[in-house]
Amino acid sequence: MHKVIAIYPGSFDPPTNGHLDLIERGSKIFDELVVAILRNPEKAPLFSVTERAAMLETLTKDYTNVRVDTFDGLTVDYAVKVSATCVLRGIRAVSDYEYELQMALMNRKLRPDLETVFMMPADKYSYLSSRLVREVAQLGGSIQGLVPELVDQSLHARLDPAYKLRDLVVEEAKLLKRKPKPRKKS
Ligand code: PNS
Repeated sequence: MHKVIAIYPGSFDPPTNGHLDLIERGSKIFDELVVAILRNPEKAPLFSVTERAAMLETLTKDYTNVRVDTFDGLTVDYAVKVSATCVLRGIRAVSDYEYELQMALMNRKLRPDLETVFMMPADKYSYLSSRLVREVAQLGGSIQGLVPELVDQSLHARLDPAYKLRDLVVEEAKLLKRKPKPRKKS
């Protein structure tokens, strides 16, 4: 029987719960799903491609039809290389649509036989992006529930000073709460 192979290309810097949600959905409708990390020499990533691939491999190890790979050059050429007939992309909000439509149509111009399939992540992840996760984590904010534990730990290791600052602020808030109120003069 004809197997439908899809690629899920992206930067995944870092992988978020939104990505994992989409991988799970994709694994249910495609026979094989290749999570393809773009090796982009122009960008200065927070995690190296090797680190991102290792994280994604661990996070997707329970899906028998999902594998992780890296690529450079055109997405359409990579799709041909792995015999994929579909490109999976996530659409979170209307704001994603314009960029995604442009990419899908350009990919179609380059390879008319390659279909782009859009899927929506769970609505609780509709505002989530790697860029926001990086920014919040870099400034010491909480990203609990937005990334898998493994990614949180990796961010912790990478951004140790920011996390230390966050812990300090939490501790200080606790201390302030405990401080007895000044007594009113009678
Ligand atoms: O996670 P991202 O950064 O939104 O992923 C964007 C990605 C990797 C899918 C896109 O930049 C891409 O396909 N790059 C490869 C080069 C390419 O094919 N460019 C033309 C796209 S129409």
